Amino acid sequence: MKAGNHNLEPNCDLVGGRVVDPSLKLDAIRTVVIRRGRIAALLDRAPAESDAACERVDCAGMVLCPGFIDPHVHLREPGDSHKETIASGLAAAAAGGFTAVAAMPNTRPALDTPERVTAFLRDARAAGGVRCYAIGAVTQGRNGCQLAPLLGMASAGAVAFSDDGATTTSLRALYNAARYAAAIPQAFLSHCHDPSFDDAVMHEGEVSDRLGLPGAPALAEAAVAAREVLVARATRKRWHICHVSTAMTVDVLRWARSIGVDVSAEVTPHHLLCTDEALEGFAAGMRVNPPLRPATDRDALKRAVAEGTITIFASDHAPHARHEKEGPVSCACPGFSGLETAVGATFAALPDVPLTAMVANFSAHPARLLGVPGGSLAPGAPADITGLFLNRPWVVDPSAFRSRGKVTPFAGWTFTVQPALTVVGGHVLMYAGAPHSRGVANTVRGMP
Ligand code: DOR
Ligand code: ZN
Repeated sequence: MKAGNHNLEPNCDLVGGRVVDPSLKLDAIRTVVIRRGRIAALLDRAPAESDAACERVDCAGMVLCPGFIDPHVHLREPGDSHKETIASGLAAAAAGGFTAVAAMPNTRPALDTPERVTAFLRDARAAGGVRCYAIGAVTQGRNGCQLAPLLGMASAGAVAFSDDGATTTSLRALYNAARYAAAIPQAFLSHCHDPSFDDAVMHEGEVSDRLGLPGAPALAEAAVAAREVLVARATRKRWHICHVSTAMTVDVLRWARSIGVDVSAEVTPHHLLCTDEALEGFAAGMRVNPPLRPATDRDALKRAVAEGTITIFASDHAPHARHEKEGPVSCACPGFSGLETAVGATFAALPDVPLTAMVANFSAHPARLLGVPGGSLAPGAPADITGLFLNRPWVVDPSAFRSRGKVTPFAGWTFTVQPALTVVGGHVLMYAGAPHSRGVANTVRGMP
């Protein structure tokens, strides 16, 4: 089992919550008994009292799920701590209901050597709180053509490989990387964007035409996704398509399935809820890669989740300083802060998807992709638990974010599902929206 950044082993009883665990086919009121940081039992009645060495947490009104895992975040250390630190990013994750995150390697320098992966994981452990995994770069400095030491990074703890932020440009490098890593389970996570469209600042379509801004069509994503499917087939390597944003890419995923290639895919809340019309008026803050697309694409993504073609939710938490999200669109950094809105926004986008599928897409499926513990509250499992209020409207207030990145497309939006509890290895990090007293030292350290 790969180590997260947790060692202590507390005891507590979570009392009165409705446990929804698709892996156990369970949807019932249960007391979750946590001993030494692991699930000890799921009791159908509450113990009259919890023993003195054991914290008792009132979960009445909450849904308790296997801990939510975000497989795609940017934590900005080393190199850009003015945007985010590992500590502020993990505090944002806890606030957002996530018990684990996987950090992309597009730091400065990139996570492209075993030493850098080791140093990153050491820093994440020191930050504490939410579990933090590292994704290693496919190519040196993410240059798209020269292989990084994949096996060494895997030994150092990298759970997957990606040049995210960009495509691994060289087909030859990608093919060789997949063959080189054939014997290890780590998946490749592809950001699909043809580099010949690198000048694009938004989706190419009616809105970009009107604004006179350079755009990237759906084809710039889907053509690369098709290439990845073919590499996956040729190398039999496990593959995953990051932040699918177009109907055409969904078609590629369906085709992959039809030819027996098991490629998984993720979708972000902003691609499920926003469209390219958000850039009207040259709204630099709405720039993101892949770009926001027209409503037809957005609706195709929702259908792809409903039918099970897309089975993983990811925030693509990409925090930037406010001044980096202002000015001309062509100069603005792409991406938004996402960890603290991902749960509310994703549930808002998909009201008709069954709760069990929503929970699996946030927990068991990303756990399986990354090969990390999680996705089940079976006795013996690490006590990583996400609690939700399913019907507690709240308004997104970016000034209250733990993340240093305060720019979000959802400022002022009202969401109905609210993260209510974050428990990691039996530590209560967040309770009813606030950092929890016993977890507070972990949760707030390094906060802005
Ligand atoms: O919008 C984005 N921002 N897309 C990416 O792929 C990278 C990310 C970042 O690191 O800022
Ligand atoms: Zn990303």
